Amino acid sequence: MFPSSSGGSLPAVSYAAAMERRWVHEAIAKVEADANRSADTHLIPVPLPAEWPVDLYLKDESVHPTGSLKHRLARSLVLYGLCNGWIGPHTVLVEASSGSTAVSEAAFARLIGLPFVAVVPASTSPEKLDQIRFQGGRCELVDDPARVDDEARRIAEESGGHFIDQFTYAERATDWRGNNNIAESIFEQMRLERHPVPRWLVVGAGTGGTSATLGRYVRYRRYDTEVCLVDPEGSVYADSWEQHDRSLRASASEGLIEGIGRPKVEASFIPEVVDRVQRVPDAASVASARVVRRLLGRRVGASTGTNVWGALRIVAEMLAAGDEGSVVSLICDPGDRYEQTIYNEAWLADRNLRPEPYEDLLDRFLTTGEWPPA
Ligand SMILES: Cc1ncc(COP(=O)(O)O)c(C=O)c1O
Repeated sequence: MFPSSSGGSLPAVSYAAAMERRWVHEAIAKVEADANRSADTHLIPVPLPAEWPVDLYLKDESVHPTGSLKHRLARSLVLYGLCNGWIGPHTVLVEASSGSTAVSEAAFARLIGLPFVAVVPASTSPEKLDQIRFQGGRCELVDDPARVDDEARRIAEESGGHFIDQFTYAERATDWRGNNNIAESIFEQMRLERHPVPRWLVVGAGTGGTSATLGRYVRYRRYDTEVCLVDPEGSVYADSWEQHDRSLRASASEGLIEGIGRPKVEASFIPEVVDRVQRVPDAASVASARVVRRLLGRRVGASTGTNVWGALRIVAEMLAAGDEGSVVSLICDPGDRYEQTIYNEAWLADRNLRPEPYEDLLDRFLTTGEWPPA
């Protein structure tokens, strides 16, 4: 008989199995302790003209210990792997990621003492590669972004490792009913606001996990809140939602707005919980990130720009309709990860991205309340 970690006696299992189970228990305890150490992220009111009957809030996911909304997902995916028996004391963890998820997963791999390999597109920003390595991860760069999944699967198979596969498991690993998921946190933090139940939640999709959690939660809690998906150039999500067709493929294998938009419809994208879509030009995403800098006094990531463009457009519609209410979106990650990209004039020029006309449009809207006809 062997002593168990909870002091009882274990049935006659192999010593190795007992030791492995003890390792899994300790790993889960470490991940849970991380959750217990982490304070909730803030909900920030965006300073719009006081006389407007519509309020805008941004859920600031950039303050997570690993700097993005992906801290929540990484924690859920590692717990999911541990509890499914897919991760043990000798497992090499492998992921295919545009960067943010890999930064967070590398941190959790180190927390439980496992090696981590991130398979990323070669075009991923140097800042994100540095952050993956800073968290103890190894980066495998792939020229063709459409091949990151296959390459990650191959590396996992060859090393006897585990392919975490965020695009497949994001929607399954996240507890959409509660457990302080991003939706429950937003509604709790809106409770004392003048319009506590948001009219709209605005979010982009990479895996689709965040939009799935938001859409499921508002249905589960029977709120009338609707979810608007913002989609950057080169992504198939908006088209696939409109055409009810998950087989669509985009010509380009990668967009310019890191983290959101996909060339194919990922398994974790649940179109049925999305109520409308907006296509956002990449230059408008960059312009909107610049305007957030002026409104909040700090820089945010590209996908946050996409979110805020979509959110302000909805605010404009509500003002034009004489509606009142609140709109909530996300700050997904901080601007310092985009020094070499959206905050670099040469990078913008090389890609013929001219944010200025969109910036003018937003500045005019924020003073007049009018959004020019499409
Ligand atoms: C910076 C950033 N914003 C937004 C998202 C989209 O989140 P999700 O994968 O939950 O759709 C991602 C996903 O990788 C991201 O990295």
